[in-house]
Amino acid sequence: MKLNKTLSLAVVAGAMMVYSCGGSGSKTETTTSTPAPAPAKEMTPEEKHKDNPDFVNGLALVKQSDCPSCHMVDRKIVGPSYGDVSEKYEITDENVERLASHVINGNVGVWGEIPMPAHPALSKEDAELMVKYVLLLKK
Ligand code: HEC
Repeated sequence: MKLNKTLSLAVVAGAMMVYSCGGSGSKTETTTSTPAPAPAKEMTPEEKHKDNPDFVNGLALVKQSDCPSCHMVDRKIVGPSYGDVSEKYEITDENVERLASHVINGNVGVWGEIPMPAHPALSKEDAELMVKYVLLLKK
């Protein structure tokens, strides 16, 4: 309690100082002791979407599958990085469906000469969740 009071007094005093400084009419001493606001920390896609079930479940499915052997989030290995894929496509139902069918049936020619193999064991729902996770990585 005591501490709180002291603190708020300090705040009031600070505000009064700023006020009197601005109201004095003098243009020379315009610096105040107000600290610069801390730069807004940029949230990573992982932090932003940690409560989004599409993201969380899609990530879990991707981890269980063979995707990590050819894809990384930030770096191209055999396949394009998820980051690059997410920059290329908006998250629309149409894109999610099309990319999911590329994952299930395999595809080649969008990113280069190396084909992505088919994943016939994946259900459409699971493949779409995986694609949603990938597209949510957009920065
Ligand atoms: C053997 C390597 C390999 C594996 C395993 C693999 N991919 Fe790929 N993936 C690729 C390659 C290569 C491409 C680029 C294909 C192209 O240029 O059309 C690609 C492309 C993609 C794309 C973009 C498709 C497009 O049309 O732009 C997505 C999304 C994707 N992969 C997701 C996945 C997911 C999800 C998995 C796991 C189920 C997976 N990949 C497993 C190699 C792989």
